Amino acid sequence: MRVLTAASRSVDEEYLKEVERARRHLRALISNNRCAPIMLRLAWHDAGTYDAKTRTGGPNGSIRTEQEIKHAANTGLQIAIQLCEEIKAKNPRITYADLYQLAGVVAVEVTGGPSINFVPGRKDSLNSPEEGRLPDAKRGSSHLRDIFYRMGLSDKDIVALSGGHTLGKAHADRSGFDGAWTKEPLKFDNSYFVELLYGDSNGLLKLPTDKSLLEDTQFRRYVELYAHDEEKFFEDYAESHKKLSELGFSPP
Ligand code: HEM
Repeated sequence: MRVLTAASRSVDEEYLKEVERARRHLRALISNNRCAPIMLRLAWHDAGTYDAKTRTGGPNGSIRTEQEIKHAANTGLQIAIQLCEEIKAKNPRITYADLYQLAGVVAVEVTGGPSINFVPGRKDSLNSPEEGRLPDAKRGSSHLRDIFYRMGLSDKDIVALSGGHTLGKAHADRSGFDGAWTKEPLKFDNSYFVELLYGDSNGLLKLPTDKSLLEDTQFRRYVELYAHDEEKFFEDYAESHKKLSELGFSPP
């Protein structure tokens, strides 16, 4: 556990206790509702708007605003926000920013993925960034670099985090795409990379952005590494996910 200083007023012992209680509540909620994928996507879409230059966007809970949840990329995520309200009602002190990121961490853990170190203390904001900061699935590797470099993330982060598609599926009425990336979409493992490399027309989904990870030699090295070494994927994923969940955040 982190050592608290006198300055860390927002994260005191009571707050830490509430975070641990929220973590337990999230575990039960996510298992009961089988909603790990959409919770992970909520965490990613709140964080993934970060712009390192202007230090705007990022994991600050602003996705809950009417303006931001209406962005086309966020279609369907109201379900996850609503589910999080049940946790917020029982743990009113936890910020939305912490709650959504904690939900992402718990979603990965309860589906069998790596443990991700969670540091609380994010502040809430109601300022939504302009639409268009999240990636467009119809585009390719240079677009992915534009988007993730803007956040301050690297090629390795792009590929490791794309492994989040080991969970869940696309819905025709939300994104226009349809289907799951893996045969067991509620299990967090390295099968996204195995299917990407070796799966051929077996009914599983490959977005244009997923395919671009194979076509780009820098990205492909990591796809091959993660398809063959699940432990390495888990290690890198946990590191990249922590970075994503802390964009623009300096722990109190
Ligand atoms: C779902 C695009 C990165 C986690 C989706 C969907 C699209 C998409 C189009 C389908 C949404 C729907 O129809 O419901 C992309 C693109 C990315 C990206 C272009 C750029 C690399 C990520 C990252 C994560 C992630 C970094 C997490 C670390 C998920 C999950 C789902 C999903 C878990 C399934 C949601 C569900 O089952 O409801 N993504 N995504 N994605 N994405 Fe991504």
